[in-house]
Amino acid sequence: MPSHQIYRGAVLSFKDDPATAGDDAIVFFEDGALLLEDGLIAACGEANEVLDQAPQNTPVRYYQEHLIIPGLIDTHIHFPQVEVIASFGEQLLDWLNQYTFPTEQKFADVEYASKIANFFLDELLRNGTTTALVFGSVHASAAEAFFKASHRRNTRMICGKVMMDREAPAALCDTAESAYADSRQLIEDWHGKGRQLYAITPRFAITSTPEQLAAAGKLKTEFPDVYVQTHISENRSEVDFVGALFSDAKDYLDVYDQYGLLDKKTVLAHGIHLTERERKRLQETGSSVAFCPTSNLFLGSGLLDLKQLEADGVCVSVATDVGGGTSFSMLRTLHEAYKVLQLQGQSLCPMRSLYMATLGNARSLHLADKIGSLEAGKEADFTILDFNCTPLMALKQQHCKTLREKLFAMIMLADDRAVAATVVAGQCLHERDKHATNQAGSPT
Ligand code: GUN
Ligand code: ZN
Repeated sequence: MPSHQIYRGAVLSFKDDPATAGDDAIVFFEDGALLLEDGLIAACGEANEVLDQAPQNTPVRYYQEHLIIPGLIDTHIHFPQVEVIASFGEQLLDWLNQYTFPTEQKFADVEYASKIANFFLDELLRNGTTTALVFGSVHASAAEAFFKASHRRNTRMICGKVMMDREAPAALCDTAESAYADSRQLIEDWHGKGRQLYAITPRFAITSTPEQLAAAGKLKTEFPDVYVQTHISENRSEVDFVGALFSDAKDYLDVYDQYGLLDKKTVLAHGIHLTERERKRLQETGSSVAFCPTSNLFLGSGLLDLKQLEADGVCVSVATDVGGGTSFSMLRTLHEAYKVLQLQGQSLCPMRSLYMATLGNARSLHLADKIGSLEAGKEADFTILDFNCTPLMALKQQHCKTLREKLFAMIMLADDRAVAATVVAGQCLHERDKHATNQAGSPT
């Protein structure tokens, strides 16, 4: 691959949150271009200026009628749940027992784990997602298989082996000691290797004994730079069960707090039924909540009150939660987020929405110095969206006057079909239909 490349098309990125910083937060070039060098963005701007500054004979990929955006980021997803997606009829606790736990047992087989890890990563890329915070299964070998598959693609992924030592089938239970030892080994082998990062992953308070949560907290103390990911307050029966198991804790969040698991690199999925005290404590610790709208609707969990969380200063990211979630597509996820907020009289404008799935999510993962926006020095992870990918979208786009309208129609109508290409560290890893790529010209 040549060390320099240019991608030309409309370019949209964010410098800040449009909800607070207004239009100054938006970076848009109708005829824009990115100059890539050695996997990084060397320049982003008006096409004529970028073409002028590129070395002679730099290859140009020209995507007319397309929009180049930062690679989408998913802050909560489970790789062993690919085949659990779209399982009928249950709410959280029964869904785990009936579908999820039986499926996750298959990941004891490292060959199967590797096959699904590869499928999963390709599916993310087909949907324009270049970074995700990923739950594994309880098996260390499956997490290892995932990291190997991601390292081979050079995708920036954060993953962790699940820790669970009770309230699950025996075949899915580790112990406080083995979870500590296995997680520690994975941290030493993978955290910071290439683009891979590690997350300590106690599944949720129900499936970890106090001893295991203490082991997770010990790991966090020993490796303060690694992430913590878990679930919280998704379903009312779950919240009640946690209350019964940890009767001395102030509330659900306090269970994690007591074991030193809350800091700015902690991501808690769902957070639908949080109390005022819990929201305040989230704000104090800087831990973030991952809003998973397709999952919350599908499992009948409830509606996340984004306005309240933000009013209380809690950082909220947006995520798919496949296989509780029903789509790998962050566009579909933003679409459902819009509806969840509509049901509560709240609104999510398309610029804010796309900000959340890119720079906002990068900020929540403390990776905004590397990914999440298109500017010189950032890693060259981006996604190219096709405004005309279906007959309906093409028709609708003709009736959109502003960029906001075009973007909103994209969010409401598009999915993986709109992802024409996905580029990871300067390498095109997904091309929807190669013949649509117009290898036009080179800079003069
Ligand atoms: N809570 C504990 N485990 C899970 C899981 O796998 N999916 C969801 N949605 N919630 C959980
Ligand atoms: Zn989840």
